Amino acid sequence: METVRVREMRWWDLPAVLELERALFPQDAWSKGLFWSELAHARGANANRRYVVAESAAGDTAGRVVGYAGLAAVDGTGDVQTIAVATDHWSTGLGSRLLRELLAAATAFECREVLLEVRVDNTRAQRLYERFGFEPVGIRRGYYQPGNVDALVMRLPTETESDGGPAADTDAVHDIDAVQDGNAVQNTDAVQDTDAVQDTDAVQDTDAVQDSNAGHDINAGQEGMTHGSTD
Ligand SMILES: CC(C)(COP(=O)(O)OP(=O)(O)OC[C@H]1O[C@@H](n2cnc3c(N)ncnc32)[C@H](O)[C@@H]1OP(=O)(O)O)[C@@H](O)C(=O)NCCC(=O)NCCS
Repeated sequence: METVRVREMRWWDLPAVLELERALFPQDAWSKGLFWSELAHARGANANRRYVVAESAAGDTAGRVVGYAGLAAVDGTGDVQTIAVATDHWSTGLGSRLLRELLAAATAFECREVLLEVRVDNTRAQRLYERFGFEPVGIRRGYYQPGNVDALVMRLPTETESDGGPAADTDAVHDIDAVQDGNAVQNTDAVQDTDAVQDTDAVQDTDAVQDSNAGHDINAGQEGMTHGSTD
């Protein structure tokens, strides 16, 4: 079986990453500049990003980038910025491995929770996240442009939180109405009965994120953040 290793993403990985990016996210691929900007926050004393690549470690394809993933951590909240696996490596457990890597980074950044957005029609990715305990907490209307596709917002409380940390109320879900300008996702004061999020059809559904920031990520405040390919 092919050996794949996961390591920190560096700038010299970007050509290979961008090739995969365009193949896997044809509608909203990130630009080279956006990856550069993310990587600029991944090193140094104030680093708040963790980006990794998965690469073939042996054989004819040694060094080939077959997946990548990234997480941003701001104010105790981790955000899965991206996760992608080359189609010929799907269902090998690589997506799970990359997500584990991001969750370990969230722990290292002392995040109380991890959030992500995923296209409502991307059931494959949703299954991956559900296996790790992510739960739906809201819908962001028209998040993915130009296709005007809604995003399901999912959340995973971390151990710090369930251990009784600052956000220990695990019944709290996020108020998407709080996202008036697209630059903030969470409002820990606003809670909603968890009965409402027992399944993806019943999640809170708001039209709050209608502005021009829709489809952008909360943390980086730059264009095109957080995408959500389909099956
Ligand atoms: C979503 C994505 C990252 C998942 O990657 P992946 O490598 O296929 O993920 P995994 O292999 O860990 O899990 C996928 C399935 O394979 C199964 N699987 C895992 N290891 C396996 C193995 N060794 N043998 C057989 N099946 C396995 C899993 O149980 C899972 O099954 P399920 O979907 O029925 O629950 C990948 O499909 C992708 O890159 N999609 C395009 C980009 C995208 O949509 N990204 C998410 C944006 S929000």
